[in-house]
Amino acid sequence: MKRLNQKSALVTGAARGIGRGFAERFVAEGATVAIADIDFEAAQETAREIGPAAYAIHIDVCAQDSIDAAMQAVVQKAGKLDILINNAALFDASRTVDITRESYDKLYAVNVAGTLFTMQAAARQMIKQGHGGKIINMASQAGRRGEALVAVYCSTKAAVISLTQSAGLDLIKNGINVNAIAPGVVDGVHWDHVDSMFAKLEGKPLGQKKAEVAAGVPAGRFAVPEDLTGMAVFLASTEADYIVSQTYNVDGGQWMS
Ligand SMILES: NC(=O)c1ccc[n+]([C@@H]2O[C@H](COP(=O)([O-])OP(=O)(O)OC[C@H]3O[C@@H](n4cnc5c(N)ncnc54)[C@H](O)[C@@H]3O)[C@@H](O)[C@H]2O)c1
Repeated sequence: MKRLNQKSALVTGAARGIGRGFAERFVAEGATVAIADIDFEAAQETAREIGPAAYAIHIDVCAQDSIDAAMQAVVQKAGKLDILINNAALFDASRTVDITRESYDKLYAVNVAGTLFTMQAAARQMIKQGHGGKIINMASQAGRRGEALVAVYCSTKAAVISLTQSAGLDLIKNGINVNAIAPGVVDGVHWDHVDSMFAKLEGKPLGQKKAEVAAGVPAGRFAVPEDLTGMAVFLASTEADYIVSQTYNVDGGQWMS
């Protein structure tokens, strides 16, 4: 049986990578899915490839008017919003002494403010509808502990875990479950970018960081987006109605909590 039949979902950053994986699986589970991304062309291409239950919308999670317009577009297209996955995020890495204000502002605007205000807009819509809803925020094992060269990104993901806890405690009064997923390392464009940054910072050949990290994963490999979709479907389904403010590790055994 399909587990998300008749549901309307919005996934930010869904043009590629993990967000795309969520969108594909949600459609397979019967949902209508907004492929929401700052890269609208890529979102359109992804929606076309997924099929008629997927549609592209433009969103810049840093801009309130863009968030509001995206919510309106979902309601116009699907008639309602049942599920939000707050997935869009940026990564950066540097020595602490080299962190720039620009990098800090950008990462906090997308990863923290973007998550908070997209969650807020979705919650407002869900409260208006009066039938609750499900919000899933993308945290990371990076939010569980610091990393020498990743201070800003790690702290944004710690903030996502904290926002999930507070918003979850508040919004459950309206029947909205807010939870988070903390992946470990997931193969794709994001990690190719991470690998190239570490190549520069640590003077390693391209691909070496990735190989070292993969060797340290108890499950013995990087994840692929499909490794995360089961948890997302579960958290978006009625089976998760009693789960509030939690962050679930889906990381091949990298973090225990
Ligand atoms: N890949 C990993 O190893 C990994 C590990 C832990 C957590 N995560 C988290 O999972 C999520 C998805 O990661 P991914 O690897 O698929 O990333 P990705 O970089 O491949 O995709 C991110 C998407 O977000 C979009 N985006 C960027 N800025 C945006 C904005 N301002 N508004 C709207 N969309 C925007 C991009 O266009 C892109 O399509 C992120 O929250 C990331 O932090 C990833």
